[in-house]
Amino acid sequence: MTFVVRPADPGDAQELKRLGDEVAAEPEGWLATQDGWRSVGDERRYLRAIRRYPHAAVFVAEAEDGTIVGRLSIARDQHPASRHVADLGLMVAQSHRRRGIGRALLAAAADWARENDVRKLELHVFPYNQAAIALYQRFGFVQEGYRKQHYRQGNAYVDALLMAYEL
Ligand SMILES: CC(C)(COP(=O)(O)OP(=O)(O)OC[C@H]1O[C@@H](n2cnc3c(N)ncnc32)[C@H](O)[C@@H]1OP(=O)(O)O)[C@@H](O)C(=O)NCCC(=O)NCCS
Repeated sequence: MTFVVRPADPGDAQELKRLGDEVAAEPEGWLATQDGWRSVGDERRYLRAIRRYPHAAVFVAEAEDGTIVGRLSIARDQHPASRHVADLGLMVAQSHRRRGIGRALLAAAADWARENDVRKLELHVFPYNQAAIALYQRFGFVQEGYRKQHYRQGNAYVDALLMAYEL
């Protein structure tokens, strides 16, 4: 199986909505967003807004048949004192995991960060998400913190690890 990683295009919005809904619906609850992905219109507007914008980017992994099988978003911290920091979100379609797509998307994010004067990447991950933690550690992320009851899932509050990667 081959895939390409490229910047997302507004025309990918429909596919990204499908992927986001699919991953958000997995019963393990990998994502902080579990009520379904944003609408196609909102996704398209966001992708349009960030074209040529130096503060955020979305990368996709596209399979040979044109299906979008991975998404990574990165956004710079807006506080003037931490504009060298950017936050990541990542997902890969269940059907395409363990084929190097997550790693390739992280590499694209690191390249974007270097080109845009970002010196540090950070992300939150649920402590039970062993696949994601293994991927991030293998890439070079380290745990910087443990955030108690940081996300709401239904009526419960769940903990998250804060991980970071210095470029
Ligand atoms: C986490 C996720 C993005 C990993 O993507 P992926 O494309 O499967 O990851 P890769 O194939 O690039 O894996 C790279 C390395 O990470 C580690 N890794 C990835 N998945 C793993 C797993 N299930 N168990 C153990 N190690 C794993 C391995 O070291 C792997 O290298 P290897 O396959 O050569 O052993 C994917 O599982 C996913 O989208 N999960 C649901 C959404 C999610 O959890 N997003 C992250 C929220 S913080």
